[in-house]
Amino acid sequence: MLVFEAKVGRKGMSKNPQEQKMQSLVSLCRRRAFIFQSSEIYGGLNGCWDYGPLGVELKRNIKELWWKDTVLSRTDVEGVDCSILMNSKVWEASGHVQSFTDPMVDCLQCRGRFRADHIVNNQCPTCGSKNKFTEVRHFNLMFKTHVGALEDSSSVAYLRPETCQGIFANFDNIVNTCRVKVPFGIAQIGKAFRNEINPRNFTFRSREFEQMEMEFFCNPSEAPKWFQYWKDERYDWYLKYGIKKERLHLREHAKDELAHYAAGCADIEYDFPFGCAELEGIANRTDYDLKRHSEFSKKDLSYFDQGLNQRYFPYVIEPSAGADRATLAFLVDAYEEEAERTVLRFHPRIAPIKAAVFPLVNKDGMPETAEQIFNTLKKRWNTFYDDKGAVGRRYRRQDEAGTPFCITVDGETSKDQAVTIRHRDSMAQDRIAMDKVVEYLAKYLEA
Ligand code: GAP
Repeated sequence: MLVFEAKVGRKGMSKNPQEQKMQSLVSLCRRRAFIFQSSEIYGGLNGCWDYGPLGVELKRNIKELWWKDTVLSRTDVEGVDCSILMNSKVWEASGHVQSFTDPMVDCLQCRGRFRADHIVNNQCPTCGSKNKFTEVRHFNLMFKTHVGALEDSSSVAYLRPETCQGIFANFDNIVNTCRVKVPFGIAQIGKAFRNEINPRNFTFRSREFEQMEMEFFCNPSEAPKWFQYWKDERYDWYLKYGIKKERLHLREHAKDELAHYAAGCADIEYDFPFGCAELEGIANRTDYDLKRHSEFSKKDLSYFDQGLNQRYFPYVIEPSAGADRATLAFLVDAYEEEAERTVLRFHPRIAPIKAAVFPLVNKDGMPETAEQIFNTLKKRWNTFYDDKGAVGRRYRRQDEAGTPFCITVDGETSKDQAVTIRHRDSMAQDRIAMDKVVEYLAKYLEA
C-alpha cells in the first residue's frame, strides 16, 4: 500500500509535528471517506486518488464556488468545457512536445528515480547514499496515446497536461459566437495529466488532477493593470472561504524563474505541513499562445478592436489553480486536534455536509419530527440524519466531517416547537423555532 511521503521523511526517521499532522490528516481522509488511493484493492496506482462521499462534496463545493465567482457572477467571462484529447499539433504549438520536461536522475544504489531539482545535498531521498546518481536526463511529462486503430506517428495524441490550450484553440469560436469584447476571459475546469517523476505529498503532486483556469484577454497596454487585478482577486478568493491569511503568500517570480513566454508571474503559496508550496500561478502570458496557434494552425487569431479601430494579438493574464491542491489546502487549514475532539473548521460554503439532524431519543414523536426537518433541509443542502448512539459521539462524528451545524430534536420540541442548533466551532447552542430553521441556516450557508 502506498503511504504519504513527507518531503524530508526518509524511512526510519522520527516524524516532526508537522509530519505527524499530515499523517493524521491523511488517515482521517481515509477513515471518513474524503480521499482513498486509486485502485487500492490492487495495491494502488502512484499519483492517482479517488474522492469518497465527503471528498467529492468538498471538491465540488470548491469548484462550484470558483465557477460562480469567476464566471457566473461576472459579465466579462465565458465558460467552456473542452475535450481532453486534442489534435497533437496543439501541443507542438504550445511548446509542450519539445520542452515540457523535468530533469531526472536515477540513484545507482537503490535504483530510485527522482527529479534532479528535488535532490538536496546530492543525497538519495530513499536510501540516503551520497553522490551516486546517473547523469541528468530530460523526461517529457505528457502521457502519450494513439487515437483510432492505427498505432503510428500519424495517430499520436496526448492527455492534456493543462486545460488552457483548449481555451486558446477556441478563442476564435468564442469571439465569433458570443459578442465578447476585449477585455474578456474564458474559463474552464477539467482534468489534466502529467507523468510526474515523483508524485508525492498526498494529492499535492498527482499524475491525474483537476485545474481551474481562466485566460483573460486584454489590450497589451492594459496587461500590467489586469495582472495586478487578478493577483489581488485570486489571493482574496482563498481568504473569502476561510484560508488563514498568515499561511497564504503571494510570491512574485524572479526574472530568471519566468517561462520564456511570460512577462510576469506570481504564485499563491500555502504553508502546508510539508513546506510552503504553490497553490495557484497567475501569469502574464503575453501574446505568445495566440501567435503560436496562429502560426501552427494557419488561422489568424488576432483580434479587431472596434473601439480602437485596430487589429492586434491580445495579451493573456492567466490565473491557473489546482482543484486538488485547493482541496488539500482547505483540508489542512481546517484541521485541528483539540483535547476532546478532532475538528475540521471548514467555511460553511465549503463544508461537504451542511447540517446534521439528531432525534435525541426514540420516543415522543421525536424521530418523526426530526425526519420532517431532515427532509425539508435535504431539498436544499447536503444534510445528514443520525439517530445512533450518545449525542456527544454524534457531535464528534460531525465535527470530524466538518459539519457546521447540528440540529437536535429533544423532549421540549413537542412543547415549544423549537430545536437546538449547535455551532461546530464555538459549540454554542441556539434555540430556534422549527419553522425558522431554514432561514437561520441560510444566513450562513448562502451568504
Ligand atoms: N496553464 C498553466 C499551468 O498549467 P502550472 O503552474 O503548471 O501552470 C497550474 O499548473 C496549477 O495546476 C498549479 O498551481 C497546481 O495547483 C496545479 N497542478 C500542477 N501540477 C499538478 C500536479 N502534478 N498535481 C496536482 N496539481 C497540479
